[in-house]
Amino acid sequence: MSVPPAPATFSFPTTVRFGAGTIAELPERLKTLGCRNPLVVTDPVLTGSAAFGLLRRALGEAGEGKTWHVFSGVRPNPHEADAVGAARAFREAGCDGVVAFGGGSALDVGKATRLFAKRPDLKLSAYDWTADWSGLAPCVCIPTTAGTGSEVGRSAVLVPEGAKAKAVIFQPNLLASLVILDADLTRGLPPFLTAATGADALTHSIESYTCPVFHPMCDGIALEGIRLVVTALPRAFRNGGDMEARGLMLMAASMGAVAFQKDLGAAHSLAHPLSSLCAMNHGAANAYVLPAVMRFNAPRAVGAYRRVAVACGLDVARASDAEADRMTIEFVSGFLAGLGLGGGLKAHGVREDQLDELADMAFADGCHKTNIVPVTRDELRGILKEAC
Ligand SMILES: NC(=O)c1ccc[n+]([C@@H]2O[C@H](COP(=O)([O-])OP(=O)(O)OC[C@H]3O[C@@H](n4cnc5c(N)ncnc54)[C@H](O)[C@@H]3O)[C@@H](O)[C@H]2O)c1
Ligand SMILES: [Zn+2]
Repeated sequence: MSVPPAPATFSFPTTVRFGAGTIAELPERLKTLGCRNPLVVTDPVLTGSAAFGLLRRALGEAGEGKTWHVFSGVRPNPHEADAVGAARAFREAGCDGVVAFGGGSALDVGKATRLFAKRPDLKLSAYDWTADWSGLAPCVCIPTTAGTGSEVGRSAVLVPEGAKAKAVIFQPNLLASLVILDADLTRGLPPFLTAATGADALTHSIESYTCPVFHPMCDGIALEGIRLVVTALPRAFRNGGDMEARGLMLMAASMGAVAFQKDLGAAHSLAHPLSSLCAMNHGAANAYVLPAVMRFNAPRAVGAYRRVAVACGLDVARASDAEADRMTIEFVSGFLAGLGLGGGLKAHGVREDQLDELADMAFADGCHKTNIVPVTRDELRGILKEAC
């Protein structure tokens, strides 16, 4: 890729504390951020998990002179109302900061809670990202899945009130004040969610590396992110107690999201409606469509996947560009199937009569605008059909 004529901005500002057991540092870190009465934003399943037990132990039980509150109303593929509810809890309890604790859903709601805490009358349908959003409450993001990388992102993905489709709420001020990547928190993540969320990280790195935007720093991070997923995800999937693999997956997830500040591609435009219309996990939706998207792209941008192949550990030194692409797609497809993420959309509940609406919604989604090659609404439908 050549240097573009227009100036570009590169930004990698989040402080990340990485290591098993680092959740124990949370009270000290909150104090440094000036936060004495945090609201933990999470989902109802997590409050009964071992990960939440570690958070509770770190923050201290109520009655030990510690003040913290919990909002546990986050739903998967969350809606605006989830963040509105969390902001109400934030105000009612007089909170001064947010601990976003969970998968991408809880992290996104936790991040966005601060927008509604600042402006209780905010409606996402009228959201203006250029308004003054400075001075948001501090937020510590603590992921318990290794996939979305939302912890290092500047956006929150929510379904606005009255809408069917997800919207990406972009706001640089949404960036977390601190991220804690503690592998102990992902130890209990079940195999399907380990695979699905890991596939999200893989898709972020593949789509961001191949999208036609000038960002060599993100490109380097994306390629290493792919290598880490290929190395660590099968280990974490087979043995949830492999803490080295769990840690590497947390890193790979954050790296995928740092990389996609560059942008994404058609797989994400297809995954978003598959979640909002068919209630599919975001990472699983990506996994089900990614090979078909790559098969669509490869003949139109021959050689696009050569360096992805190298990151996957394939020997493509003597292969033609087309051959390297073919080998990469075959590898990615087999890799995902090996994690139980094969089988096609139909096997996962998508009906033929939903394809038109899914294609319309995918085309209205912004991610495909930076796909390796342009893609039309009918081509998106064709990709969905192939992924069935
Ligand atoms: N903001 C961003 O940059 C960004 C990027 C990608 C995806 N997303 C969004 O993130 C969401 C998906 O996030 P996700 O895939 O992490 O799923 P999720 O947050 O919806 O969680 C899925 C399930 O996993 C459970 N879970 C989480 N951690 C667990 C643990 N340690 N042990 C046991 N169960 C656990 C949760 O309780 C939940 O039931 C989607 O809404 C997607 O649009 C956001
Ligand atoms: Zn994603």
